[in-house]
Amino acid sequence: MSQVTPYNNSDSKKEQVAQMFDNIAFRYDFLNSLLSMGIHKGWRKKCVKRLIPLQPKLILDVATGTGDFAIACMKLNPTKIIGIDISEGMMKFGREKLKKLNLDSKIELNLGDAETLDFADNTFDAITVGFGVRNFENLEKGLKNLSRILKPGGSLIILEFSYPRKFPIKQFYTFYFSYITPTIGKFFSKDNRAYAYLPESVKAFPDNERLVAILKNCGFKEASFKSLSFGIAAIYEAKK
Ligand SMILES: C[S@@+](CC[C@H](N)C(=O)[O-])C[C@H]1O[C@@H](n2cnc3c(N)ncnc32)[C@H](O)[C@@H]1O
Repeated sequence: MSQVTPYNNSDSKKEQVAQMFDNIAFRYDFLNSLLSMGIHKGWRKKCVKRLIPLQPKLILDVATGTGDFAIACMKLNPTKIIGIDISEGMMKFGREKLKKLNLDSKIELNLGDAETLDFADNTFDAITVGFGVRNFENLEKGLKNLSRILKPGGSLIILEFSYPRKFPIKQFYTFYFSYITPTIGKFFSKDNRAYAYLPESVKAFPDNERLVAILKNCGFKEASFKSLSFGIAAIYEAKK
């Protein structure tokens, strides 16, 4: 099956995704808050709560973008958080934010690709990925690599959009995501495709049960999901 990509051109999905996030980085945080009406912050808080019993000291935030998930993880009082992303443009805004919040000694953001990261085996106590796995070029390759670098007993937390299945949320979401999101997104980001790619990529992405099965195939155990906000997003939790 051909992959859903941002610009439908001959570049790899990874190149297109990095390009797209570089393009929209200057409006990413603003549009996140506007289009989700602020709900995304509560979702990240819920994810972080799940990590409290583990008390992780070294955390990797994959697909960190402008660093919001990494910043939310500071509630866990870790020793260090490393954020990685393939878009320098997104991390540039993230680093500015960290400086303002005086968090730049605790959180570092580095260029890195989830699928090829070469940290040693069993390095991290916890790994988080917010709205990132949907954008991987090779989902399984990325998840297997994350399983490799997570410590035994460590937790992976994924936050991702999903497609609600129940009336009337499904109908409302389809309308909002297909018409409102691309129109507002295009107006503010000046990128014609980024906010049209968003609903397309969510639709093409494995559903909740399928992603749980994929996680188990990629070396994780105790994988499960919890729907958020009537099924428009979900938290996936898995252990190594
Ligand atoms: C929607 S943003 C999410 C940013 C942030 N995690 C958040 O919660 O707002 C998705 C990010 O995934 C990054 N990304 C996509 N594929 C990646 C990969 N293979 N490795 C690392 N980052 C990736 C993109 O560059 C982008 O910054």
